[in-house]
Amino acid sequence: MLNFELYNPVNYVFGKGQIAKLPELLPANTKILLAYGGGSIFKNGIYDQVKTALAGFDVVEFGGIEPNPRYETLMKAVAIIKEQNIGFILAVGGGSVIDGIKFVSAAVKFNGDPIDILQKRILTKDTNAVIPFGGILTLPATGSEMNSGGVITINATQEKLSFGGSALFPKFSIVDPTVIHSLPKRQLQNGVVDAFTHVLEQYLTYSHDALLQDRLAESILQTLIEVGPDVVENPTDYKLASNFVWSCTMALNGLIQKGVPSDWATHMIGHELTALYEIDHARTLAIIGPNLYRVMFDSKKEKLAQYGKRVWNLQGTDEDIAKKAIDKTTEFFQKMGMLTRLSENTSNYDGTADFIVKRFEERGWTAMGEKQNITPEKVREIVELSY
Ligand code: NZQ
Ligand code: ZN
Repeated sequence: MLNFELYNPVNYVFGKGQIAKLPELLPANTKILLAYGGGSIFKNGIYDQVKTALAGFDVVEFGGIEPNPRYETLMKAVAIIKEQNIGFILAVGGGSVIDGIKFVSAAVKFNGDPIDILQKRILTKDTNAVIPFGGILTLPATGSEMNSGGVITINATQEKLSFGGSALFPKFSIVDPTVIHSLPKRQLQNGVVDAFTHVLEQYLTYSHDALLQDRLAESILQTLIEVGPDVVENPTDYKLASNFVWSCTMALNGLIQKGVPSDWATHMIGHELTALYEIDHARTLAIIGPNLYRVMFDSKKEKLAQYGKRVWNLQGTDEDIAKKAIDKTTEFFQKMGMLTRLSENTSNYDGTADFIVKRFEERGWTAMGEKQNITPEKVREIVELSY
């Protein structure tokens, strides 16, 4: 097992009716920015619950954080925080709102141009240099509620870039599984596939000695396979909803990644597809992931065989099982409503591979994946295979 440090200070508050606990979790005598997205919270009753819980607090509202949150929008929140002496941010939304607020938290006191946090990947580690924040999750998928990373899109350059650092964990996250009742089917499907791929990024690498991490990863995958197709049809079933939501958090709260190699190239390539074509994050992963496993087959086949045996109960030679496991993954994504080819998601995909390869080369991303063997040529192959 590789050496690791496990640090996760998030107060994770889970269950029905937990939004009512908000007053106990917020700092007293502090002006609060209530941040949200495009307005779903006004239709599903979450805004009313939050406002009731916030009675007596001094609150300024900031709405309009987009899916795939934009740097340009978030800088408006940075200005409001500076002008109005805000001391705490409450993010109410999915991964986009929580990610957006992580960026705002880091940008307010940043010494320099905040765009560098993204373009120069400057880690935010000093807890005194951030505005503290907490979250109320409304969409299970990203794990942002219990991790310290985020992804922001810069409109001006059409770049979607990740950032993070140990000072960017939420102080608390309220996670009530009943919030998924109002989610459109498409977003429920996205949540299952995003969480599933988060596990694969940290699991489908090469054989190693971290036995427990493998078993944890496999159990999350098995739970998502068990509840995913049903929760999409019956989001009001609390057993399904609670297991789905907790699986999404566990997939990316850092636990299964400790002491093991990880890949993340599917995400890096997928982010480009969102930046270029606005394809939903999870849908880009369903396009790229299986083709990355095909192109990197020799490197990943041992782990693919383990995945095939333990998660999909496949039998045969290791080589056969490894191949079938990739097909099973695609079938599962299709069952979850994904269109697994780029051409099914956009008609305008000519030159995508060239564009992505050029960008990665410019950024120096020439050796990705758990063995740093996903070269620009491999990226080209993966993207072209995904057309
Ligand atoms: O904006 P509103 O009106 O709230 O509507 C949202 C949005 O249109 C809607 N929605 C959210 N909760 C709802 C709801 N609609 C009805 N009822 C509810 N309870 O759903 C739409 C999508 O929301 P969004 O937050 O964009 O989705 P998601 O949670 O999937 O977040 C995606 C973003 O997270 C990033 C992605 O790249 C993408 O930008 N990621 C963040 C990660 C992290 N922080 O660790 C890791 C992930 O791999 C991912 O990259
Ligand atoms: Zn993801």
